[in-house]
Amino acid sequence: MSNNSFYITTPIYYVNDVPHIGHAYTSLAADVIARFMRLNGREVMYLSGTDEHGQKVEKSALSKDLSPQEFTDKMSIRFRDLLDALNIDYSDFIRTSEERHKVGVRAFWEKLKENGDIYLGKYSGWYSVRDEAFYGEAELVDGKAPTGAPVEWVEESSYFFALSKWQDKLLAFYEANPDFIRPKSRRNEVISFVKGGLTDLSISRTSFKWGIPVPGDEEHVIYVWLDALTNYISALGYPNEDGNYKKFWPASAHVVGKDILRFHAVYWPAFLMSANLELPKSIIAHGWWTNEGEKISKSVGNVIDPFKLIEDFGLDPVRYFLMREVIFGSDGNYSRDNLIQRNNSELANKIGNLMQRTCSFVFKNCESAMPDVSSEFIDSLYKSEFFVKLQELVKDSISEMENYNINKALDNIIDITEQSNIYIDQEAPWSLKNTDPAKMNEVLYGLVETLRYIAILLQPFTPGSAAKMLDQLGVPSSERLFEHLTQDFAIKPQSKIEQPVGLFPRFEVK
Ligand code: MSP
Repeated sequence: MSNNSFYITTPIYYVNDVPHIGHAYTSLAADVIARFMRLNGREVMYLSGTDEHGQKVEKSALSKDLSPQEFTDKMSIRFRDLLDALNIDYSDFIRTSEERHKVGVRAFWEKLKENGDIYLGKYSGWYSVRDEAFYGEAELVDGKAPTGAPVEWVEESSYFFALSKWQDKLLAFYEANPDFIRPKSRRNEVISFVKGGLTDLSISRTSFKWGIPVPGDEEHVIYVWLDALTNYISALGYPNEDGNYKKFWPASAHVVGKDILRFHAVYWPAFLMSANLELPKSIIAHGWWTNEGEKISKSVGNVIDPFKLIEDFGLDPVRYFLMREVIFGSDGNYSRDNLIQRNNSELANKIGNLMQRTCSFVFKNCESAMPDVSSEFIDSLYKSEFFVKLQELVKDSISEMENYNINKALDNIIDITEQSNIYIDQEAPWSLKNTDPAKMNEVLYGLVETLRYIAILLQPFTPGSAAKMLDQLGVPSSERLFEHLTQDFAIKPQSKIEQPVGLFPRFEVK
């Protein structure tokens, strides 16, 4: 990986489900991080896609009288549509039924085999089709998987991956790379799981066909998780180790939900070690969403449709709510009232209000142009306590984001906005209009310049509205990166501005 590259991935989504808020959240969190890194000057590759093989998908296709390929072609589009609806700036979208992926998986399998980690044996144990996971007898709870999914007894010939061999190497790796698994609490969970002892992993199935055949033994298809995890490198052109692979591997971050952490933080690194490939830099596990306090499930019928949410509230309020409502890594609860509340009290009343009252006042009282101040004033503004603090908050936001503390970066932006709202009330430019117009210009200039900072920092979270703010402030599109948050790119006094338009509507709580 070159120094400036940043490679981030979402899990690839199972196509037997329709997209819901959980999928939207993972993709969105990765998008916010990706946009942040781009604004910070990194060359970003964002990968998403669909996980199309396995027994679960085969069953769903059959129940709809479609071939698995027809079924996945139809369903995969919904996930791509969701990325577009969420305004996600993705670089590639991989489907595991694509040939480029299959080539990568076969090569990866051969590598593990060559290195002596694959052997043929017999699997007998519990399998959950819903989770596409094997469970030990001791893991079952009331005859079901720990996730509550039904399990079935499976006895079949199977290839195994010698996972047990990698236990100590994995533990040594976690020890040497304390930031590999985030957040910390999840890291401890993974370490104790590995310390508890790893057994070899069954990595092929013979009881269904919809998958990638094992090279040299077509009776078997490759276990869907080994197949799926390989997407992170097949999309980079693996087994060709030049080009995008060279540029972007190892990944900077795999963003995943806590339920699939084990696959990413234990199995995937073991496979990669076995294949002698570098390990990703970090696995970021986020929490789960509930709906109005209840676990989201198809059987309860409380699945939240992200397309509908966007239709009801507009995209940016939804993006903002999902990123703001929970500490990244913890579980979150969707509630319609909370979404409205966050939107009204923060986006509309804090950010929108500051923007609207500042820009309307400037537009009306400064001859439709930015306030007229001297360059000496701008020098002194940049040395003022408020601006020194502002620069610190910017630095702090960037370093929070480098550590994937998404909501802390947002806290800072809200903090700046609150202070600016206090400042405008204290300085009351409306009363300076007649008594001290020069001072009025200075107060307003300080505010529009602060708004430039707020809008640039807001871009990863609410890209559409941030762009409107920057347009309104007359900031050229070539000057919207974090490196432009300096005095050199400060707003030009007396530059023309357009009539301000409202940014964030308020919603009624029903
Ligand atoms: N196909 C596998 C991933 C393979 S990656 C090599 C898979 N797919 S999934 O469609 O079931 O889930 C995708 C993501 O959605 C996971 O990160 C999961 O945590 C997330 N979510 C599913 N329901 C969720 C919530 N209710 N809340 C938050 N995220 C949840 O697993």
